[in-house]
Amino acid sequence: MQHGPLRNAYLDALGIDRWVARDAPAEVLTEPAVARRDAPVIPPPQARAPLAPPPAPPLEPGIDWGPLRERVAGCTACDLCRTRTQTVFGVGNTRADWLIIGEAPGAEEDRQGEPFVGRAGQLLNAMLLAIGLPRESVFIANILKCRPPGNRDPNPEEVARCLPYLQAQVALLKPKIMLAVGRIAAQNLLATDAPLARLRGKLHHFGAADTPLVITYHPAYLLRTPADKRKAWEDLKFARAHWQRIVGTT
Ligand code: URA
Repeated sequence: MQHGPLRNAYLDALGIDRWVARDAPAEVLTEPAVARRDAPVIPPPQARAPLAPPPAPPLEPGIDWGPLRERVAGCTACDLCRTRTQTVFGVGNTRADWLIIGEAPGAEEDRQGEPFVGRAGQLLNAMLLAIGLPRESVFIANILKCRPPGNRDPNPEEVARCLPYLQAQVALLKPKIMLAVGRIAAQNLLATDAPLARLRGKLHHFGAADTPLVITYHPAYLLRTPADKRKAWEDLKFARAHWQRIVGTT
């Protein structure tokens, strides 16, 4: 592994000029206050539905990729099914060593049905490539399969109802290592409210198979806070070193 050129590629790819965000994404400011105000006047049929939809039937143990994808596509286990354009199952190599976990689809992901396709996704691709991982070589998924309106944080009930899908993806993929990007992904995978700063720089484990799990910053955060890109680079090298130890390439 050539560290110098990769490091340069990373630093080039993450150059402030190319990646810096001037403002928070516009959709952050578009929480649907109007829709809520309108609801009592012209109630949509769902307004009379119970607050919490019934839990989805449990996934069959050993469910395969196709049926799992169908279950996700038809999921109505939480209210996000009412506002999504489509579900975002995840994308990538189903034999990948690496599983990358983000928070939830944003506006562009909701439109395209694929995780990390916006500007944060471009940065994520560059981060992965810098440690020798083309996007197509990994699997990328989110904690939530549906976009929270206005890109608000997922709530605990949404996470609880969606997590079985991610657990099924982990069971099918059997990744050698997981990389959680951002506080929301990290805290939900580890069932903790510890700040991201305390979760970085350590090897954690996830799920029944005790899959090694490394935590780093969310690329959208790095777009807003380029000064932390060097710490993200340390996290990526840390994760790569563990993976290399696991697969025996060092
Ligand atoms: N942010 C995420 O956490 N996931 C996506 O898919 C896109 C942006």
